[in-house]
Amino acid sequence: MTDGALTAPVPAATRPGITPAASEEIVVLDYGGQYSQLIARRVRDCGVFSELLPHSVSTEELAARKPRGIILSGGPASVYAADAPRLDRELLALGVPLLGICYGMQLLVHELGGRVEEADVGEFGRSDLHVTEPGTLLGGLPPEQTCWMSHRDTVFEAPPGFTALASSSSSPVAAVEAPGRGIYGIQFHPEVVHTPYGQEILRRFLTEVCGCEQSWSPASIVQEQTRRIREQVGDGRVICGLSGGVDSSVAALLVHRAVGDQLTCVFVDHGLMRKDEGEQVVRAFRDTFKVPLVAVDAETRFLERLRGVTDPEAKRKAIGSEFIRVFEEEAGRLAELDGGEGARFLVQGTLYSDVIESGGGAGASTIKSHHNVGGLPDDLDFELVEPVRALFKDEVRAVGVELGLPERLVWRQPFPGPGLAIRIVGGEATSERLNLLREADHILQEEIRSAGLYRELWQSFCVLPDIRTVGVQGDERTYGYVVVVRAVTSDDAMTADWARLPYDLLEKIASRMINELREVNRVVLDITSKPPGTIEWE
Ligand code: XMP
Repeated sequence: MTDGALTAPVPAATRPGITPAASEEIVVLDYGGQYSQLIARRVRDCGVFSELLPHSVSTEELAARKPRGIILSGGPASVYAADAPRLDRELLALGVPLLGICYGMQLLVHELGGRVEEADVGEFGRSDLHVTEPGTLLGGLPPEQTCWMSHRDTVFEAPPGFTALASSSSSPVAAVEAPGRGIYGIQFHPEVVHTPYGQEILRRFLTEVCGCEQSWSPASIVQEQTRRIREQVGDGRVICGLSGGVDSSVAALLVHRAVGDQLTCVFVDHGLMRKDEGEQVVRAFRDTFKVPLVAVDAETRFLERLRGVTDPEAKRKAIGSEFIRVFEEEAGRLAELDGGEGARFLVQGTLYSDVIESGGGAGASTIKSHHNVGGLPDDLDFELVEPVRALFKDEVRAVGVELGLPERLVWRQPFPGPGLAIRIVGGEATSERLNLLREADHILQEEIRSAGLYRELWQSFCVLPDIRTVGVQGDERTYGYVVVVRAVTSDDAMTADWARLPYDLLEKIASRMINELREVNRVVLDITSKPPGTIEWE
């Protein structure tokens, strides 16, 4: 989670395990493939809830979840290598349909008596698929289609009792099935866009084979989560630190829908937000949704704490600890109002990608430490309520829309907990510099929005280095600030590419900044990807 202040590391004991969040579920067993997470997303795109679990998960745990089907992902190993992940034979006895993809298929074929060997040439990238026998899996699809392959080992013979459905130029057996046993396999990757019929093949597996009803939708998520929150919270009091990010906003709204005014949100305005952002949050929650909200204007306190602090980590620490202090004070005040009994539950907008990143929910969180900055310490005595824990970011947005969250909040780009302070680089975050950065950022956002590019970008923001450069304006020599424009595209912030903003747009942005902001005499563009750069400058 990157858009919020409140990402606390949570002790394992209070972290709920991942439990199925819907009545029908497909489990994707991860054998280490590059696209494993994407498979779960594609299944969800078909309206069926899906989770990614490590291939080592026990059969008992799998059985307990009662999945409608299990997908075995791809992976880098060779089935005949000594240390290759094996197929747990008990999987076959579960009576749940299985679909092996790439390595997953090779594993099934190998274990069930077919022939998998290393081929002279690998098959990487686009390939032509010839369907010889459509069977259940490829029924109704064109006999000739393209698909995306990524393998060196190859299936040469299907196991006894299986039907080979298709071949490709380098794969004599590119798809197999044994419907009577509920086992299916495809060598290619249906989850990537380069396999045009991939989504349809997945849909056929989900509906024709697993009998899924495809009822997973934002509305059903709201219904299901509301029920679960009520069950967890009972008549207890709940507190939520709101940052204005979409994750914590949606989490808070779900909780409010479930338990109404048992929830109080605390919005700590540290004065490091973007222009008008604090007001937008307060307006949406207090005025539109009537959520009990305590808005704390803590700007002066935070600026005081930041005085003289120039080191990035020191800034993060100062902001983080001040944040905790303010939050604790408010929680205490609320408890006093409540006759001494404080909130027992704390809402967090943990996302499914955080859960995957931290190893599937088991053990302590390994979320990047800087994301915990501005978060709460792990010794706070709260039980967590994490209603978006099973959702990907785009699903959280869809739920936000379903709940009526304003468009601006639904599509808000991620914003770091320590806010603008870590975008004043190499210097102190003073009120004067923060105001300048806020105005520059406002110009950037206005122009990016009016060019219709806001949603396409993962993040767009300005950085204000603590340096001056010489310029000449109106026949006068100036010595002003440089504003850096940073705009990136990304799927998950783990990697990012610099956005190719149109030159005309860049020119407009630069000239507005220089004309409207007296202190600025130069605008530069950051053209660094991640890696080697990070998205933020500090
Ligand atoms: P980097 O700069 O590491 O950022 O490429 C990746 C994502 O994380 C956000 N970020 C932060 N979020 N507290 C946060 O809540 C932080 O201290 C922090 N630092 C970076 C960054 O905006 C990007 O989305």
